[in-house]
Amino acid sequence: NVTLDDPPLDLSSLGISQPLPHFPDTNPQLNPVDIFRCYLTEILVGLTGVDAKIIYPALAWTQTLDKGDLVLVVPALRVKGKKPDQLAAEWSEKFPESPLVSKPVAAGTFLQFYFSPALVSKLVIPLILGTRSRYGLNPKNGLKDQSDPSRGRKRIIVEFSSPNIAKPFHAGHLRSTIIGGFLANLYQGAGWDVTRINYLGDWGRQFGLLAIAFQMFGSEEKLKADPISHLYDIYVEINRRAEPEETEIKAKKANNEDVSELEEKSLTGQARHYFKRMEDGDEDALAIWKRFRDLSIEKYKQTYARLNISFDHYSGESQVSQESMQVSAETLKEAGVSEESEGAVIVDLTKYSKKLGKAVVQKKDGTTLYLTRDISEAVGRYEKYDFDKMIYVVASQQDLHLAQLFKILEVMGRKDIAEKCQHINFGMVLGMSTRKGTVKFLNDILRDVGEKMHEVMKANETKYAQVAEPERVADILGITSVMVQDMSSKRINNYDFNMDRMTSFEGDTGPYLQYAHARLCSITRKADIPRSELETADLSLLTEKHAINLVRVLAQYPDVVQNTLRTLEPVTILQYLFKMTHLLSSSYDILKVVGSEPEVAKARMALYESARQVLHNGMTLLGLSPVERM
Ligand code: ARG
Repeated sequence: NVTLDDPPLDLSSLGISQPLPHFPDTNPQLNPVDIFRCYLTEILVGLTGVDAKIIYPALAWTQTLDKGDLVLVVPALRVKGKKPDQLAAEWSEKFPESPLVSKPVAAGTFLQFYFSPALVSKLVIPLILGTRSRYGLNPKNGLKDQSDPSRGRKRIIVEFSSPNIAKPFHAGHLRSTIIGGFLANLYQGAGWDVTRINYLGDWGRQFGLLAIAFQMFGSEEKLKADPISHLYDIYVEINRRAEPEETEIKAKKANNEDVSELEEKSLTGQARHYFKRMEDGDEDALAIWKRFRDLSIEKYKQTYARLNISFDHYSGESQVSQESMQVSAETLKEAGVSEESEGAVIVDLTKYSKKLGKAVVQKKDGTTLYLTRDISEAVGRYEKYDFDKMIYVVASQQDLHLAQLFKILEVMGRKDIAEKCQHINFGMVLGMSTRKGTVKFLNDILRDVGEKMHEVMKANETKYAQVAEPERVADILGITSVMVQDMSSKRINNYDFNMDRMTSFEGDTGPYLQYAHARLCSITRKADIPRSELETADLSLLTEKHAINLVRVLAQYPDVVQNTLRTLEPVTILQYLFKMTHLLSSSYDILKVVGSEPEVAKARMALYESARQVLHNGMTLLGLSPVERM
């Protein structure tokens, strides 16, 4: 959908007299590579005779600098008659002299372009210093219509985290929180209107059991102090007590004895009654459940804040009304999608795909299920938010559940909703445990890694003495360790939870990234050059290979973010940040600031400050808090 309707690009200041066409999704004001893209497209049209709409998307970014700054994928142009490598060689030969790029290099079926280093520095560094935290973002992405901003922005719902009250906040919830928080930031940066929803597991018969447990042996004091652990503890305890009763009932049933009285009196029986009252809307029964919910949410909020996350809405299974589920059930029936099967109501999805199986939407006793609630919740959200896209960030164990959900929405006549939904899944964390043993709650993990980082920091006494709030910094470093490890490979991969590795300064870890940021801050403090002087620095003094490569990498950042909107993988950003920080580490000895000629020092400081800004932007996009000292 390339159109050439945008206003032409004026490059007269760069010595290009012809105005260039401008492509959608390009933003030369915010992405320097886009200037080269538009420019190269224009020249290549003349050279190849191929349409601009085909050339433009065939200009790809490169993973490593030795492959050029942009490459033309020649086969993508589908020029007949000659082989792509012949064409590449021919076009390289014919390419005109240019102030923007050096003579392109034919490498097999690719044509590699290298930007003029002096020009890139002049474009990129002032752009980063000028746009600061906005560098890398293209807020045009989220516009409903890029040529008419008055039509407003697209809306996205990101549903993530979604723990279950009174149950452990396990690794699946942790990953959902990290990945979901990142995706919400990503879309927000791209100009979408983002709504973050936490869909709590806060309904079901277990809440009847929990209420009884609290009445029997709950403690008001403990509930207030630490609702999440206390609710979990009493839930475990009541289950322990209910178990022998259940075994007894089972045994008697097997013996054909009458167990109705026993069932009534049992804890599970009482819980069933209690939950029935809740479902019937009995205020007294609901009051205690609501307290559990409110207190838990309050605690969750504190933990999320440590991860730089807040939700716009705490929804949950409890929030799906009986009436809305009634309506969904009728829609399913009228559409001829659902059928009765042994007293239950099912949707036979094998008609569409064997893998989807048969989904139960109503149990024999008339009660609804997890899936039923999700159907109505999706419809309800669509009515409330009129979203353009909705993302569910849920572990791949629930692949089938979400595939069923989306298919049911589609066949019940809500294709409009189904086609806007996407499941973002992820693999498991293996062996997540604290120093004390198995883990139940996120807070335990965060406390442990924080303590570990605190020990590491204390080892360097002089540095430690300079850190204003060491506990707070240690906490941030611990959180960074966990998050970076989580985002270090593709979402779908499982990984081993390894406390020693993630807290190490060696290798591509969270502490390594934080150290890179703190080091740049320290260079800034020591050099002590006012910002206004960085802005007027003579950038032509950046001539060393290291300086040039660093600038070239900084120029890629907006494209990396753009690419991440396609991959929806945090690792895309993370890998880039490691590439950049490795380059930085190898530059410090060569590109010294303190002790260099004043003009050279200024130019180098402008480069380092730009690198710091990009690192900062990437880290905050990932949900990390960059530290200034550690
Ligand atoms: N609370 C669920 C669990 O812990 C996750 C909810 C996922 N979201 C959804 N809409 N079903 O397994």
